[in-house]
Amino acid sequence: MTALTLSTSSAATLRADAVVIGVAKGPKGLVLAPGSETVDKAFDGKLAAVLEILGASGAEGEATKLPAPSGLKSPVVLAVGLGGVPDNGDRYDGEALRRAAGVAARTLSGTKKAAFALPVEDAADAGAVAEGALLGAYVYVPRGAAGAPADKTADKAGKGAKAARNGADSKDSGKEPLGEVALLGGKPRDKAYKAATDRAVAVAAELNRARDLINMPPNELNPKSFATEVQAAAKEHGLKVEVLDEKALLKGGFGGIMGVGQGADAPPRLVKLSYTHPKARQSLAFVGKGITYDSGGISLKPAGHNETMKCDMSGAAAVFAAVVSAAKLGLQVNVTGWLALAENMPSGGATRPGDVLRMYSGKTVEVLNTDAEGRLVLADAITRASEDKPDAIVDVATLTGAMVLALGNRTFGIMANDDAFRTAIHEISEEVGEQSWPMPMPPELLKAMDSQVADLSNMGERMGGGLVAGLFLQEFVGEGITWAHLDIAGPAFHEGAPFGYTPKGGTGSAVRTLVRLAERTASGDLG
Ligand code: BES
Ligand code: MN
Ligand code: ZN
Repeated sequence: MTALTLSTSSAATLRADAVVIGVAKGPKGLVLAPGSETVDKAFDGKLAAVLEILGASGAEGEATKLPAPSGLKSPVVLAVGLGGVPDNGDRYDGEALRRAAGVAARTLSGTKKAAFALPVEDAADAGAVAEGALLGAYVYVPRGAAGAPADKTADKAGKGAKAARNGADSKDSGKEPLGEVALLGGKPRDKAYKAATDRAVAVAAELNRARDLINMPPNELNPKSFATEVQAAAKEHGLKVEVLDEKALLKGGFGGIMGVGQGADAPPRLVKLSYTHPKARQSLAFVGKGITYDSGGISLKPAGHNETMKCDMSGAAAVFAAVVSAAKLGLQVNVTGWLALAENMPSGGATRPGDVLRMYSGKTVEVLNTDAEGRLVLADAITRASEDKPDAIVDVATLTGAMVLALGNRTFGIMANDDAFRTAIHEISEEVGEQSWPMPMPPELLKAMDSQVADLSNMGERMGGGLVAGLFLQEFVGEGITWAHLDIAGPAFHEGAPFGYTPKGGTGSAVRTLVRLAERTASGDLG
């Protein structure tokens, strides 16, 4: 990943390939943001005027490159738009800083080093710039060696990952990420400043790894190779990991996970990844949907609906990243990640529409649509997570197309069995720069899931399909346990042009919300 260094040098004296400054949209035109003073001086105070002539306005997303005058040690100046000038003096909000830093890092991919002289007033601002830059710099480097036989590579993905990543094929994948971000301004020797940037480095590394897993083609990442990845990370960070393979799942009665995975050649897994702190007072369980490919199964998805379904393990990737982040940050809370991994494929051995599964909870489910598979694997994982009696369970899943229709491509839906918890998660997500919206769980929608041959069916009314899925999951939450469900089907995978610090492809949606939730729980902020 891109390296981050803290520097006390001025933007004029630091030697880099480019100096990044912020510009904003003022009432009378473009204004330079704090941090750009020495750069402006090298332009004889005319930088704002020069940028306006070049067509810059300070709008969010804008990036303007210009050659530096002789007074600067870097040959290029990059001005990135911060959007409107803030009303209350000179403070830009965290998300404006993250996005501008992300645009800068993206624009500078292929270069070695950039000095970031964006407006940084305190430790939180420094953390935001660092996070935006490291996330914006992300580039997916394909792991699979050219010509490697499909599927066979998946089993080796865990072990061969590092070698392949450093391999020759990285050149073919486009530009290299920006090599180094030197953060200027602020107080590098200040403890809070250092902590905020260290946190950004830790979280960005894990979030970018989640993006890698999401972007991996489904013939390279299957339930088994995903589990191997988790085992390797657990070893590296001293975390406890247990992997239930298909034999253990069958023996344990995990009918939901087995039922979904039984049509695929690559068998399913349930992975438990635990981080514990000796002084923890609370425990969280994060449950992730990990369908490494969702073909729909016998209820096969038509062309046009299956091209991006490698992203159907984004919830599990987010949970993985969040648990490792909590460990890296040494948070005073216990966090257990449950990754429900399966591949949803049609075959002679696949679950049929009409089959009845006996779930891990003992409930029976009539599978009326094999494409509603996420709720089946999650139900088993939620029941299992409940047995450990955590203080709260949060599941994360690319669960329904209905949620994408309701909230669009950038906002995830939140459902919960506790209004205060749902509100808290919504507020946390907004604070970290992830868009979300609270959704209701109308009890009358349960009725349509009645079955004549089982306790319930996996299909309900089409209307409110996202809420129906939430209601189904709630049936499997242990008595008295606080639970929330994040449906990230919209924001998990970005098909449009990159923006801010969001690349094309896997986004790492929900990672930062889960990490902040763990931090708040550790500090006792959530009660
Ligand atoms: N993985 C899909 C949901 C999805 C859709 C994720 C679009 C990302 C983008 C899920 O398994 C699914 O197929 N859901 C069905 C449920 C239906 C059959 C009740 C859906 O949303 O159509
Ligand atoms: Mn599906
Ligand atoms: Zn799915």
